[in-house]
Amino acid sequence: MSETPSKKVKESKTPRTFLSPDIADYCDAHCSAESAALRNLAAFTAEKRADYQVNLSGRSVGQLLKLLVATAQAKRVLDIGTFTGYSALAMAEGTPDDGQVVTLDANPLSQAFAAPFLAQSPHGHKVTCITCFAHEWLAEQSDASFDFIFLDADKHRYPDYLTSCWRLLPAGGLLVADNVLWGGHVTSEQPSSRAEAVDRFNQAACQLVDAIAVCLPLRDGLMLLRKTS
Ligand SMILES: C[S@@+](CC[C@H](N)C(=O)[O-])C[C@H]1O[C@@H](n2cnc3c(N)ncnc32)[C@H](O)[C@@H]1O
Repeated sequence: MSETPSKKVKESKTPRTFLSPDIADYCDAHCSAESAALRNLAAFTAEKRADYQVNLSGRSVGQLLKLLVATAQAKRVLDIGTFTGYSALAMAEGTPDDGQVVTLDANPLSQAFAAPFLAQSPHGHKVTCITCFAHEWLAEQSDASFDFIFLDADKHRYPDYLTSCWRLLPAGGLLVADNVLWGGHVTSEQPSSRAEAVDRFNQAACQLVDAIAVCLPLRDGLMLLRKTS
């Protein structure tokens, strides 16, 4: 008897989107223009970290984060996963002048990469880069509170991040998580450990009794959660 073919699909490192390339480009082109600092940062990332460019959230997600931060009138923002600083700077652009964005990354190169682009932006002074393991840093935050959290670090910890981030949000606070469709692998019958963790995060997120949850197929999938009480 022949074996059932494995449904496990190799996870790709190319930029993920569920839209055709034409439509994805069209959507990007019909978002607000990026600031000069964000544009320069994206271009420099493409040049210097081409292998990892898929990590950068990009124009559509960046402008959505900026819009949500501004709409929520968030002053205290937490960015989990700095990479080269794109999401941190995009969200800083949405905060008022006394806003603060704390961005965490385990890789010390992230701070060094982001620094010149933060320096060239009128919003860069709002951003504080911390080199740390985010899960350890979060465990130490007993009194901290953030109006807005963007989760975009190690996917296998997403279920734990949901718990640790949720207690830092006040009622009315927003949590946005990136890559929640994980290239479509969340629906695989034999998901990778990352896809399985992201799926568990999504299951837990939409069952929170004190949240409004929306899962959007923008880019690699975004989970939007508003804490209701
Ligand atoms: C997808 S990238 C973040 C992209 C960034 N948010 C943006 O929009 O450009 C994920 C980042 O998370 C960092 N990371 C992974 N696991 C981490 C952990 N446990 N603690 C802190 N940073 C972590 C990686 O070093 C990487 O830079």
